[in-house]
Amino acid sequence: MYRAVIFGATSAVAEQICRIYAQDKNKLLLVGRREEALKEMCNDLSIRGATQAEYLVSDLSDVEQHEALFTDIQSSIDEPNLFIFANGTLPDQKECEESVTKTIEAINQNALCQISLLTLIAAALEKRKTGSIAVISSVAGDRGRMSNYVYGSAKGMLTRFLEGLRHRLSKVGVNVLDIKPGFIDTPMTAHIQPKGALWAKPEKVAQDIVKAIDKKRSVVYTPWFWRWIMLIIVSVPEFIFKKTKL
Ligand SMILES: NC(=O)c1ccc[n+]([C@@H]2O[C@H](COP(=O)([O-])OP(=O)(O)OC[C@H]3O[C@@H](n4cnc5c(N)ncnc54)[C@H](OP(=O)(O)O)[C@@H]3O)[C@@H](O)[C@H]2O)c1
Repeated sequence: MYRAVIFGATSAVAEQICRIYAQDKNKLLLVGRREEALKEMCNDLSIRGATQAEYLVSDLSDVEQHEALFTDIQSSIDEPNLFIFANGTLPDQKECEESVTKTIEAINQNALCQISLLTLIAAALEKRKTGSIAVISSVAGDRGRMSNYVYGSAKGMLTRFLEGLRHRLSKVGVNVLDIKPGFIDTPMTAHIQPKGALWAKPEKVAQDIVKAIDKKRSVVYTPWFWRWIMLIIVSVPEFIFKKTKL
């Protein structure tokens, strides 16, 4: 049975993951910043079968609060054995290009705050020699592109951090999963229109994530075809890549 902690639990993808886990009678601790939404989700997840559905309110970008938050987590759910990260923001690339503050904020929201919490979680799981970590990064982290390299560089940093963490924690049997979705139809991307054939629903992405966690995979692209799309994108030589407007 999973005793799971979900950061950014109000995310459309995280909500679908929680529903799958609730049906399978797991214990869930939701962490997010919107109390009303978290309360509603907990009620819904209890009805769907979760054997524990509780929440903690936290603005995860405030890294100074992470030690206190981690203490609260440990007293709210007994020996958590799964930590899922779904928090993130999609910054406006053009605005970031004109603002150091917005760029740094985007890097904090999409990499530093996850890395901060992962550092605390890793130390605890390393001692316990058991558990699983699953973090949503993005295909955007695989290659810097002019249209979204601030977000992409944060996700790329996260991926590299997870790679090292996986290497370290593999020695004690703790799995670290890096989740790389392509386009998902969620509130984060509501402003992007039209949505074509490459777009996935959060339900599908959640199913892929749950399967990858169960199978203790290291990296999952979701949907699967993004592995091949990104293989092509990272293989394009720099002199040709510079001519594109991706
Ligand atoms: N949608 C895509 O196309 C796509 C593609 C690749 C990767 N991803 C990644 O997938 C993950 C889930 O995103 P989504 O698509 O499900 O979008 P979403 O529904 O907008 O979810 C993003 C979540 O992050 C939470 N969050 C952001 N900043 C936070 C903070 N400082 N403290 C606490 N919570 C915070 C949001 O909370 P609020 O509900 O309070 O705003 C929201 O629950 C993200 O990491 C995103 O980068 C998304």
